[in-house]
Parts: sequence; C-alpha cells; structure tokens
Amino acid sequence: MLSDADYVRFASFFGRPLESFIRDHRNADYPEINHSKSGPATPLLVRDGAVHWHWASSHEVEGGAVTMLLGKKAPDVGGETRFARTSKVYESLSDKMKHWSDGLVARHGLGRAPWIEGETEPDPDRPRRQTDAPDHPLVMAHPVTGRKGIFTSGTAYGIHGMDDAEEIALIRELREHIVRSEHRISCKVRAGDIVLWDHFDAVHGATPTEYSSEQGAVCCTGSAPRACQPSTSRVSE
Ligand SMILES: [Fe+2]
Repeated sequence: MLSDADYVRFASFFGRPLESFIRDHRNADYPEINHSKSGPATPLLVRDGAVHWHWASSHEVEGGAVTMLLGKKAPDVGGETRFARTSKVYESLSDKMKHWSDGLVARHGLGRAPWIEGETEPDPDRPRRQTDAPDHPLVMAHPVTGRKGIFTSGTAYGIHGMDDAEEIALIRELREHIVRSEHRISCKVRAGDIVLWDHFDAVHGATPTEYSSEQGAVCCTGSAPRACQPSTSRVSE
C-alpha cells in the first residue's frame, strides 16, 4: 500500500491536489487526502451521501478536474462506483439545441439538483455544510480533447434566464439522460486499487452501502491537469 506522502506525490502528476471542503475528512498531515469511511458506526443521517450522480466539487468555484481513489477496505457485496459519460448527451442533441445550450449558465449548490430515480435524497435534517454557490456553464469543453459534455453534476438546480419549472424539468431530463444504462460502467474499488477518473467527461456515484461491515477509501481531487488550458473559465490554475 502506498504511503500518504507517496499517494499525494503520485496525485500531483495529474494536477494540483485540492483540499476537501469537509475539514474533518482531511488527513491531518496531508490535507489534500480526503478520508471516506462507512460502517455500522456511521450515523443514519449521513449514510449513502454519495449515492447520487455528481462531479466532485462542482459546488465550489474552483472545481476539480481529476479524482484519484485508493481503496482501503471493501465489502464483500456492493460498494461499487458507477460512472456515466456526460458527452454522450451533448452529442445526441440537434445542432440547434447544441447552439442554444452552449450559451446557458447554471446555478449550483450542494445537494440541490433535482433528484432522479436510484439516488438517495438527503434527509432534510442532515447537517448543512457551508459551501460556495457558483455558476458554471451548462456545457463544458474538455481541456485536452475539446469534447463537449453536459455539466449538471449533482448540484445544478437552476439556469439563468429560465423560470423555476422549466429549469428543473430541463436539468432533471438531462441528468436522467446522462445516466442511461448504455452510457454507464461500474467498478469495484478493492483494497490497494487506485482508480482515477476524468471529471470533464464523467459523473460518478456510489451504489447503496451495506453498513454491516467496514469499508473505506481515501481520495485526492486535483485541479486542471498540468500543461493544459481549460477552455472555460471554471477551472483555474
Ligand atoms: Fe464522489
């Protein structure tokens, strides 16, 4: 198993590691490492918080570009991470719709996206976290390939220039389309495995957790990869 120091050093090959917005999940010596653990002792109110489709840190002004996950302990059953491609929906739009959506800007807030089937809806009594409330373009261009994808993550809840009913209906429809089964893969991160994913063409989400046994992982989320320039203003170096 990699040491914490080596893990951060390895992560830095893919970008500048960012610190998690959840202070008590940060590693004491390496705050770029974020601990994620669940088991019988996990309070009911905070269980299955990752069972929704999202792009890590889309609720922050400076979002991540790459996440690196190192498995520490995996349950025998369940505990998968699922991925879906955000570019597939954009590719399926008509030229007119592409042109229209290219100019839209969405409002983001942690846990505020309209929920879709299969996701865990947050308990209203769940402790609220103080986070940014940024705007992001609805369409993001990949900083390396230029491929465009629909960016709703799990945080888009409004679109400038649209009324409440219209914006919620559009975001929900796009989110449902992105995660259709033909756009998805699933992967189980076992102890010692490292999985990296590219935020610009993927949303991810956990499957529901079996809380009778311990499981855990640590992750680093990095800013834009080195030697490339984002084509939107969202990610800054
Ligand atoms: Fe995540």
